[in-house]
Amino acid sequence: MKPITLILILLSITSVLGVITIVTDSWIKIILSGVPPTSIAYHSSVLNPINNTLVIFGGKNKDTTYNTLTLYDIINDAWLNMSLSNSTNNSPAGSIPSARYGHVALTTPFNTMYVFGGRDNTSVFNDIYKYNMELDQWVLIKPTGTPPQGRWGHSGVMYAIKNQFLFFGGKTLDNLLLNDIIRYDFELDAWIQPIEYGSSTVDPFAPSKRYLHSAILTLTNEMVIFGGMEQQGVSNAIYLFSAETNVWLNSTLNTTSDLPSPVSSHGTILTPLGQMLVFGGQLKDQTSTDAVWKFDFKYMTWTSILPSGLGPDARFGHTATATNLNTMMVFGGQSSSSSYLNDIAKYNVVNSVLRSSSDGVVLVVLLSIVGSMIVGLCFALDLMAERNERAKLERELKVTGSELKLKKKSKKPEEVRQPLFEKF
Ligand SMILES: *[C@@H]1O[C@H](CO)[C@@H](O)[C@H](O)[C@H]1NC(C)=O
Ligand SMILES: *[C@@H]1O[C@H](CO)[C@@H](O)[C@H](O)[C@H]1NC(C)=O
Ligand SMILES: *[C@@H]1O[C@H](CO)[C@@H](O)[C@H](O)[C@H]1NC(C)=O
Ligand SMILES: *[C@@H]1O[C@H](CO)[C@@H](O)[C@H](O)[C@H]1NC(C)=O
Ligand SMILES: *[C@@H]1O[C@H](CO)[C@@H](O)[C@H](O)[C@H]1NC(C)=O
Ligand SMILES: *[C@@H]1O[C@H](CO)[C@@H](O)[C@H](O)[C@H]1NC(C)=O
Repeated sequence: MKPITLILILLSITSVLGVITIVTDSWIKIILSGVPPTSIAYHSSVLNPINNTLVIFGGKNKDTTYNTLTLYDIINDAWLNMSLSNSTNNSPAGSIPSARYGHVALTTPFNTMYVFGGRDNTSVFNDIYKYNMELDQWVLIKPTGTPPQGRWGHSGVMYAIKNQFLFFGGKTLDNLLLNDIIRYDFELDAWIQPIEYGSSTVDPFAPSKRYLHSAILTLTNEMVIFGGMEQQGVSNAIYLFSAETNVWLNSTLNTTSDLPSPVSSHGTILTPLGQMLVFGGQLKDQTSTDAVWKFDFKYMTWTSILPSGLGPDARFGHTATATNLNTMMVFGGQSSSSSYLNDIAKYNVVNSVLRSSSDGVVLVVLLSIVGSMIVGLCFALDLMAERNERAKLERELKVTGSELKLKKKSKKPEEVRQPLFEKF
């Protein structure tokens, strides 16, 4: 038997034993530690990939609007103590953003989080702030270019190839809805002009003005706008904008596709397989949903997902954040207009061979040990086989040429032992 065959057999055995677990679309039970933050909605949540923490900022509840940063350790499922950064020692005062909700937070490949726009009780913002996730510092920035109109309930994606953020839509202080696309260069800290206004009358594929929709960037750099509140009400339409070619694309659904209910204030992530996953949101009748939907860009098809496991309550105004462990974290939001939430939920997104990286390490080590054992065993078996072969040959020789052998043997001189202490 070849070593590879043995390894394959062993792999099948271990997978049967559950070392390799195939889990997909399921809510995972969390054993939580630490003190959860206040119940909030319309906050932001991004992943700090360096140490696998969720960085949650801002939000509001019935009485208060926040500018608090809260950290959640997704490896150990632990709330870390709230740390309101005070960067006055390192940069001019006032660099901590004012309390806000309905803002957009995005991260760069340089481990920085930017916060753009949002609102509080009285104002709608057009400012942009930078938070260094490694140093835990807010940094005041003065971007070049003309700042866009203040907005909240907008959306944004990072377009890494060009070091840009693309923001879309939102609502102004005057309650006007928007459908413009704004670009921000996070390497130069500059607003890129001119602002591109999508006009549904000119461009048949551009979305109508909206807010409280979602945006993700696909693996092929299309910004996907889904749902939200239009002038006419809640939407369930999908729109694709090519970040590369700067045009709205034909996003006609597959005729065989299912269709989710119109929804706003939902949570959306891009899965590692390039699909869009949507959880929750607010429906037409103001109620909240706990529905999970998946969109496949290859076939332009929606699929309703019925995840296994006990999921979180229906909600809207929550955040859904993709981790790099094939999971989606859902935090906060509202279950009704008066009820705010502070629970956190974990969703397993992809068919995963290994449930976590630590499992992966264990398995690789295990396989290496087993692999070397098998190689060693094969080597030993080979040696034994060789020895048997030689013995067999020798026996045959003995039979055919026994006389010669015996003669040879008798002629062989006796071994003489060297005295050990010859020199003494
Ligand atoms: C809005 O302002 C009112 C009056 O100042 C205050 O009572 C309320 O708590 C504020 N709400 C939020 C969400 O900040
Ligand atoms: C969090 O803060 C509380 C109160 O300041 C403190 O007692 C506790 O030890 C802290 N926990 C951690 C993990 O730092
Ligand atoms: C930040 O630092 C300044 C100056 O040291 C101080 O006045 C202010 O209270 C601090 N704010 C927080 C939230 O710690
Ligand atoms: C991750 O990094 C941030 C910023 O340095 C720090 O505040 C936080 O405690 C770290 N989290 C963990 C789990 O180490
Ligand atoms: C958009 O795509 C659909 C299906 O792929 C096609 O039927 C339709 O004609 C296209 N629309 C335009 C304006 O090209
Ligand atoms: C529509 O979906 C079906 C399967 O669901 C697929 O076979 C077909 O290719 C899709 N059509 C388009 C135009 O993507």
